[in-house]
Parts: sequence; structure tokens; C-alpha cells
Amino acid sequence: MKRIFSGVQPTGNLHLGNYLGAIRNFVGLQDDYECIYCVVDLHAITVWQDPEALRAQTREVTAAYLAAGIDPKRSIIFNQSQVSAHAELAWIFNCVIRMGWLNRMTQFKEKAGKHRENASAGLFVYPSLMAADILAYKATHVPVGDDQKQHLELTRDTAQKFNNDYGVEFFPITEPLILGAATRVMSLRDGSKKMSKSDPSDMSRINMTDDSDAIAQKIRRATTDPELLPGPEALDAEGQVPEERRKERPEAWNLLGIYAALSDQNWAQVLAEFEGSQFSSFKKALTEVAVEKLGPIGAEMKRLQQDAAYVDGILKEGAERANAVALPILREVQEIVGFLRP
Ligand code: TRP
Repeated sequence: MKRIFSGVQPTGNLHLGNYLGAIRNFVGLQDDYECIYCVVDLHAITVWQDPEALRAQTREVTAAYLAAGIDPKRSIIFNQSQVSAHAELAWIFNCVIRMGWLNRMTQFKEKAGKHRENASAGLFVYPSLMAADILAYKATHVPVGDDQKQHLELTRDTAQKFNNDYGVEFFPITEPLILGAATRVMSLRDGSKKMSKSDPSDMSRINMTDDSDAIAQKIRRATTDPELLPGPEALDAEGQVPEERRKERPEAWNLLGIYAALSDQNWAQVLAEFEGSQFSSFKKALTEVAVEKLGPIGAEMKRLQQDAAYVDGILKEGAERANAVALPILREVQEIVGFLRP
């Protein structure tokens, strides 16, 4: 059986990067896998979250899952803190994972920055909780963006070391699923920075709940360069954008990549369509497809956010189903480790 696990942190404003890089891909996977999609609130509090905001953001991510087309009957949608197996297994993994492994994690270094001594201990063991998320369900596949590859590698090492230490063939070695062209969506103001919820300028990102006017305005004002758009000869033999080219015109490639992803086309098709075009005409087409694809999702998210009781009901039912999968696995782990449960 093939089982997917993935999670999104409820840490505020979901944007196009979250949609194209993660949530949109989750939808299609439902046809081929048993899918478990989590709102990772335990991860969120590794950095400070206002309690009221955390509740709203947890509902927002849930609404985004639903609005994007994840079917709560076919797949499991829930928030992490409702299933205690995550925290319990993470503790056991804290005792399997080595300090040296965690010290190498680039995300911790980035997030802790210069104030390492002042980072929460939770932020340091974040990857351990992520391994627990995945392995509590013995997930075989995890869709990940570039930035989470190192954490998935640590999950594989954790499974391996647990199996070795205890002389069992218990946890699977989870495979990454790398998806889609524009999994890396950059800021609309600066093509060298990732699109981010923490960018002080709201013009740098398209939020999933932006209305058509906001989308149009942000695309109109997005940074460009003075040249005409490139043609298909800019691509390499695999039809991908060579890294050097991307660096020469980061804004142009970012907008083209967003267009390709939203219109479900590959690079060659998009470049053939816009070769030699001005940014102004391309931006019109980009606005059109962005409004067409994101408009209905944003509207549905807003509708769902008005109906907290419905959203909370989805999470409760999802948590019950998730628990029914994770608890027997946790019990076996406890047995393997030698915890007595008379
Ligand atoms: N760390 C992931 C992120 O920041 C979120 C996450 C938590 C996750 N647990 C996971 C992703 C398990 C995949 C599988 O994007």
C-alpha cells in the first residue's frame, strides 16, 4: 500500500508559493495514494504564535485544503495536536536522533539566525517531530519542496537507526516525491528571494485569499526587466531552465514559471507562446489565468472561514481517523522500545 503524509504549518497568510509548491500537488495525489494531510500546529509553536491567531490560521489552512480540492472523505485532514501519537513518537525519536544530525540542519540555522541561544528547544528538535509525523503512519511517500529535502533525509536516517538499534524491520524508508515545475515561487518584488509570508511588503506575494483586483494590481506592479521574453531555445536538453539563465533574469523566469504552473503547461509551451513578447502583454495573460485559477479557491476559503463549526467538524473527524491509524503503530513502537503496559 502506498501512503502519503504531508503537512502545512498554520503560521499565517497562505500564498501562491504554498499553493503551487504544496497544496495544489496534494489534490492530484489522492487518485493514486491513501493521503493524510496535516495542519502542523505543534510545529507552528516552535516560534511564538498568538493563541487566537493560531486558531484562525489552523482553520485557514484547513479551508485552503478543502477549497483546493482535497476531499475529506477520501483523504484524512486533521490538525496535529489532536493526535497525541505525534508528540509521543517524537519523544522516542529525540532519543534515537543524534545531536550531530540536528546540528547540521540548515533550516534551524536559518530560523534561529544569530540568536541561537534564544531559539526554542522545540525549534531545534523540529525535524524529530517531522519524522514522527511521517512514521507514525508508516508513510511511504512524502511530497516535498526543495527546502524540506534535508528533513526528509533525516526521517529516513531515523527510521534506519531505529530499525537497526532495535533489530527490527519496522519503519519504512520513506521516499520523497518531487513535484511540478514551479515548486519554487519567488517574491514578485525580488526574484532572488522566496515568496514569503514574512516579507514586510504584501506586494511581494499573491495571497490565496486575494481578490481579482488585488491579484491584478500585484502582477501589474511585479518587478520585470527591460528585455523581451525568451523563447524555447533558452531551455536545456531536458526542457528545464538552466540555473545560470535563471540568475540572469530571475523575475522573468519566476513569472513565466508561475504562468506555466497555473496554466498546466511545460516551459517549452509557455516560451513558444510568449517568445519575443513584451512584459505588458504577458502580464495580462498571467493575470487572467491567476484570477481564473485562484479566484474561486480564495472565494471558497473565505466562505469556509465563515463556517468555523463545519471546519472544526472536519478536523475532529479527521483526527479520529488519523488516530485509528497511528495509535496501533505507536503501541507497537512502545512494545519494541520496552515500555511496560500491563
Ligand atoms: N516542515 C514542513 C514545512 O515547513 C511542514 C511539515 C511538518 C511536514 N511535518 C511534515 C511536511 C511532514 C511533510 C511531512 O513545510
